[in-house]
Amino acid sequence: SGSAHINPAGELVIGGLPAPELAERFGTPLFVYDEALIREQCRRFHRALQKTGLDHQVSYASKAFLCRALARLMAEEGLGLDVVSGGELYTALAAGFDPAHIHLHGNNKLDSELRRALAAGVGCYVVDSLDEVARLNTLAGELGTRARCLLRVTPGVEAHTHDFIQTGAADSKFGLNLASGQASEALRAMLQAEWLDVLGVHFHIGSQIFGTEGTRAALARVLAWLAGEREHSGFAARVLNIGGGFGIRYTGADQPQPLEDLLAEVAAALRAGAAEHRLPLPQLWLEPGRSIVGEAGWTLYTVGTVKQIPGVRNYVSVDGGMSDHLRTALYGADYEVALANRMHGAPQGTYTVVGKLCESGDVVARDKPLPEPRHGDLLAVSCTGAYHYAMSSRYNAMLRPAVVFVKDGEAREVVRRETYDDLLRGQLD
Ligand code: LLP
Repeated sequence: SGSAHINPAGELVIGGLPAPELAERFGTPLFVYDEALIREQCRRFHRALQKTGLDHQVSYASKAFLCRALARLMAEEGLGLDVVSGGELYTALAAGFDPAHIHLHGNNKLDSELRRALAAGVGCYVVDSLDEVARLNTLAGELGTRARCLLRVTPGVEAHTHDFIQTGAADSKFGLNLASGQASEALRAMLQAEWLDVLGVHFHIGSQIFGTEGTRAALARVLAWLAGEREHSGFAARVLNIGGGFGIRYTGADQPQPLEDLLAEVAAALRAGAAEHRLPLPQLWLEPGRSIVGEAGWTLYTVGTVKQIPGVRNYVSVDGGMSDHLRTALYGADYEVALANRMHGAPQGTYTVVGKLCESGDVVARDKPLPEPRHGDLLAVSCTGAYHYAMSSRYNAMLRPAVVFVKDGEAREVVRRETYDDLLRGQLD
């Protein structure tokens, strides 16, 4: 499989192509994806799930990064697609993605989004509120089409991750709470709804999570609740979707357990829990985003101004910033950086990599050891495949970078760089 290495010229090589060559050909800032690595992650999920012996399904969480080329790649690898908006749905359909393998998520699905999804034949709705039960049922009835759905519940489990990306606690805008009885109310409404087919339940406790402690705790609660529901109505969940959230290695501080071990632990907990409550063993569905694309992506920037403030800090500025790299500013996330054209250079100090936007928080990485950067050097940031392009903005009228997929020494542009004309598109005089 493809992962980066350094060539004798001291250049970072991604997917068989030296980073300076990619920068020369496509310009910077540039997102580069190692296609083989994305495919390998998809296959790892499938292999690891197969080993558990459970019936399973993996859907890629598009929010991490979506374009038509990526949707096609997911189809080729046999993954479904989880979309959270009309826009993601539109992109997936434009790629020719089979709607039957698309799941629609969202805590506030608009009627217009539901209508489009129903008309397209979306395969699964993750119902997130009581009012959605009624609306989805009505709209499905209007269109005369049945909607297969899961109920999203919040098991009341705290995940050990950044507050902004915690989603499983009782105090959450997502899902319906188990403890308060709202989840039961919603499930019963769904079971009665004429146009809904209830497949099972869904939970997602958070993102960038290491270990399975939280997931197993959530599983225990959800299975106990399902046992109660079964007694009440005879409903037996055929599907349990545990969302995504698998942590990746941004820096040496992150030590994710192998996926194979994590999934084996989850599967064992699911089997044990189902047996304990005498529930039929449900299918295990996953929707990973970050762990599919995160480590496969790099950002390449060109170094501009270098500012050394004696006794204070050294700043190296690049030609992008928080417009294409928001996670450092938003979550205090940490990244590894390198001079991609001089990988053999010995570190000569620490540098804080900043962008060119008018905001002091516009930081890419803080106090990183680097050889003395020079104007025109190529700076690479690793692990930017998830929630980077997807969270990019046009703040300061920045142009969105191009995205290229590289594989076996070949590069193909999958999203072109924005132009100034793109800025004016949609503006009315
Ligand atoms: N399923 C649901 C219901 C989700 O809410 C999410 C992520 C996923 C799946 C995929 O999670 P993943 O496997 O990627 O961890 N912008 C933040 C991440 C927000 C995640 C939101 N939900 C970041 O950059 O860290």
